[in-house]
Amino acid sequence: MYVPPRVLTNADFESMFETSDEWIVQRTGIRERHVVAEHEYSSDLAIGAIDDLLEHHPDVDLRAVDYLIVASTTPDYEYPSLSAMLQLYYGLPKSVGALDISTACAGFAYGINLACGLIASGECDRVLAMAADALTRSVDYTDRSTAVLFGDGAGVALIERSERPQILGMSHGSDGGGGKFLYRTGTRTEINGTIDESRLLRQNGREVYRWVLENVPADIERILQRAGMTLEQIDWFVPHSANERMIEALCKRIGFPIERTLLSVTQYGNTSAVSIPLALIPAMRDGRVKSGQRVLIMGFGGGLVTAGNVVVI
Ligand code: ACO
Repeated sequence: MYVPPRVLTNADFESMFETSDEWIVQRTGIRERHVVAEHEYSSDLAIGAIDDLLEHHPDVDLRAVDYLIVASTTPDYEYPSLSAMLQLYYGLPKSVGALDISTACAGFAYGINLACGLIASGECDRVLAMAADALTRSVDYTDRSTAVLFGDGAGVALIERSERPQILGMSHGSDGGGGKFLYRTGTRTEINGTIDESRLLRQNGREVYRWVLENVPADIERILQRAGMTLEQIDWFVPHSANERMIEALCKRIGFPIERTLLSVTQYGNTSAVSIPLALIPAMRDGRVKSGQRVLIMGFGGGLVTAGNVVVI
């Protein structure tokens, strides 16, 4: 995992618009976020995360990776893709598959599921599934209701063929009707009857909050059903770390203890596709998450789309 060194605290926003540390913490749980510098991009974050993987696992041979999947809604360029840039940077064989996916905050879970599918099909043995987002580049810093929420970073998982099934209950969902509550214009600049050429992120936070609580529990149920498990058999829950209050409400609704829910939002803000690895990797490294434990991963975000699975660590 990797986050850029520059930190924005809640106090830093007090000079930009009317807000307070108290408001931000009370509504979101966020205390600070790491943000990219002027000439720092998603590819730099992705490289930081892969270098961190290599540092912690010196036995990993990147040249044995068959496929790169990078989830991001903030790639440096439309093309070349981030995954192709990484192939070049690390000198990987030209036979490696390179795929960027754009599924907003559900991106890491989507990437893991795709990686698993590629391995199960027999096409690949080793897939690097990662997320890299510099969402603060799309944030409107004059809009206090979104400016305080987001941060940047990258996280990576190496998924390898194994004898025992370790990724179970893969599930996806989509509700295009919710797209009007969270969007960024692209080649098309008209949305909801107005023109917005800014290419900045726009959100109706209240509607997204409501949508998550109404829809995500059914996704979780579907994942568990497909995995043949009950919630009681889950050791850790890692939802997309969008907002601590919303996650608390989600845990209450599904009946899962917040104490066994891993979050990254307090320290890193909402890092979009990266929020799940930023919560899971530190917990694996400090021994909270142990080998053999079952981790329920649940991503949701712009689209609105969802993806999740149960990973047996
Ligand atoms: N500081 C102070 N006041 C603020 C701020 C701020 N940073 N932001 C908004 N306010 C004000 C509003 O202007 C409004 O004032 P008004 O009543 O005078 O008009 C008041 O606070 C209430 O605004 P709401 O937007 O209704 O506030 P809400 O309680 O809904 O909290 C929040 C906003 C935190 C964004 C919340 O709706 C939320 O977290 N929603 C979920 C969003 C989310 O997680 N999205 C991501 C999911 S997918 C993805 O990650 C891409």
